[in-house]
Parts: sequence; C-alpha cells; structure tokens
Amino acid sequence: MSITTLAVIGAGTMGHGIAQVAAAHGLNVLLHDVSLDLIHAARERIRRGLERMAEKGKVVNVELALGRITAATQVEDVSLADFVIEAVVENAEVKGDLFRRLDAVCRPHVILASNTSSISITRLAAATQRPDKVIGLHFFNPVPVMSLVEVIRGMQTSDATLRTTITLAETLGKTPVEVKDTPGFIANRMLLPFINEACYALMEGVASAENIDKVAQLGFNHPMGPLALADLIGLDVCLAILEVLHRELGEDKYRPCPLLRKYVEAGWLGRKTGKGFYSYREQ
Ligand code: 3HC
Repeated sequence: MSITTLAVIGAGTMGHGIAQVAAAHGLNVLLHDVSLDLIHAARERIRRGLERMAEKGKVVNVELALGRITAATQVEDVSLADFVIEAVVENAEVKGDLFRRLDAVCRPHVILASNTSSISITRLAAATQRPDKVIGLHFFNPVPVMSLVEVIRGMQTSDATLRTTITLAETLGKTPVEVKDTPGFIANRMLLPFINEACYALMEGVASAENIDKVAQLGFNHPMGPLALADLIGLDVCLAILEVLHRELGEDKYRPCPLLRKYVEAGWLGRKTGKGFYSYREQ
C-alpha cells in the first residue's frame, strides 16, 4: 500500500515536527488540531524549521513543502488519509477516545499510529475495531533533527502493519528500532530516571541547575544537560511519563521528584511556557 497522504493529529511540539518532516519528504499532510489558530501557529513554526532545513540544503523548496500541508479542524477531515500519526496530549483517556473516533472515520485498511512516549499501544488498539493496524511510532524532539524512532508493536499488531510502519519511518529519513510494548518503551525508561535524578539533586541543593547540566555536557558529552532537556521535552510530559513508569512498573526508583510536580503545578512547563528550570522569556 503506498502512502501519499499522512494525517498528523495534534499540531503541538511533536505533531508540528512530524508534519514538517513528512512535508519535506514529499508527503501530503493533513494537520489536525482543535482550532485554526493552533494550526496556523504550527505552520509558522514549520515554515521556520523548513527554512533552517533549506539553509542546510536538506529541503529544496520551502513553499512547495508548506503547500503540502492542509489544515484539518475536524477529525472527520482526515478520513482520506493513507496513514495516521496521533501526537496529542500524553493522556490515556484522551488518546483512547481519539483512537475510537479515528477508527470510525478512517478507511478500514489504514494504520493508526501513536507517537505516545509511554502509554500502552495494546490499550489504544483495544479502543478500535482494527487492533492489528494500531502501532506505536515514537519520534524524538526536535523531530527534524533526531534520527531515531521507536516502533512499538502492541499485542495484536500484525507483521504487515509493522513492515509498512518501518518503511514509512525510513521514507521520513528516520532509523526505526523495534521495541516491545512495555511502559516507557526503551528510550524513556532510560531517560526519565536520569532526568528525575537530576531534579532530586537540584531539590536537595547538591548543585545549581547550570552545574548539574554542565556535568552531563562536559562529563558525558551530552549535547544538553538533563534539566535543559526536560525543559525542551516539557515538564508536564516528563511528569506524565514518570507517572506511567511508577504506576505500571511499581518501583520506587520511578517516583516523580516532588520538585518536578511543583513546577508543573506552577505552570512552569519548560520552553513552551517560557519558564521551566531555566527562563526563556527573553527569547
Ligand atoms: N527544524 C529543522 N532543523 C532544526 C530544527 C528544526 N526545528 N531545530 C534545530 N535544527 C537543526 C539546526 O539547523 C542545526 O543543523 P546543523 O547541525 O545542520 O547545523 C541542528 O539542528 C542543531 O541546531 P542548533 O545549532 O540550533 O542547536 P544546537 O546545536 O544547540 O542543538 C539540539 C540543539 C539539537 C536540541 C541539541 O541540543 C540536542 O540534540 N539536544 C538533545 C535532544 C534530545 O536528546 N532529544 C530527545 C528528547 S527525548 C524525546 O523526545 C522523547 C519524548 O518522548 C520525551
């Protein structure tokens, strides 16, 4: 089955990045969010991202790529998509409800993928009448820059769905890694305890945020430290993933740091709100 039109559900941090990469690789994109304002804001971010890619010779024509993206304010507007990638808020109820609605509007052969960072694919699949065609396709932030995608097979995902999804990931210039459907998959099961430990170190006054990050940058050659990375990912997303790990694996080592919880309660969610462990307000 050839994929020419991709639906991306959710125009936020991950959704706009996925749409950008798909359009840059020649796919038509139906970009869905609940309001035109959100989709227009995402288009502006995509334009800036495409311009950066063009400066590096990674995309030929920015206007052509942007022209491949169509706004879709209703779930019904994606009914003719050949493949769907969901990238909405990290909440199992919201995603389950969305999968039910997508299942009702999309053609029966269409694969429904989730960019979830930790929620069970098997559970999302159970919300549909096509569990064999539901799969995880987990991108990394910033999507245009990071080459990894985790491909997560739910209990009922078919071999054909897995093959088509891997081919799509490669078409998008990504390197797919197949992972079992377990909480946090591989990447976040490793990354979030690291970020959480950095939050505990900060809360206990072991070092300043800058120095904690400097240790990872200069000591481990990480491009950015764990606290700056948490700000990039979104502190609400980090907390949601830790809660899934803690609840479903049942181990104290995944207990979210109280300081992280407090930041989220304060609305300090990282770059997207202008304040997290660092301030971005001047940008
Ligand atoms: N669109 C297109 N290109 C972009 C871009 C965008 N939105 N953002 C950055 N780029 C490109 C730049 O043009 C530049 O290209 P070049 O290497 O060819 O010159 C390159 O990316 C690096 O960008 P900058 O020079 O502006 O910035 P830095 O060198 O400071 O790098 C960074 C920024 C890429 C974010 C780097 O710090 C990094 O790799 N950080 C770690 C990111 C990471 O670990 N992500 C994974 C998070 S975990 C996750 O997402 C999973 C989720 O479930 C939680």
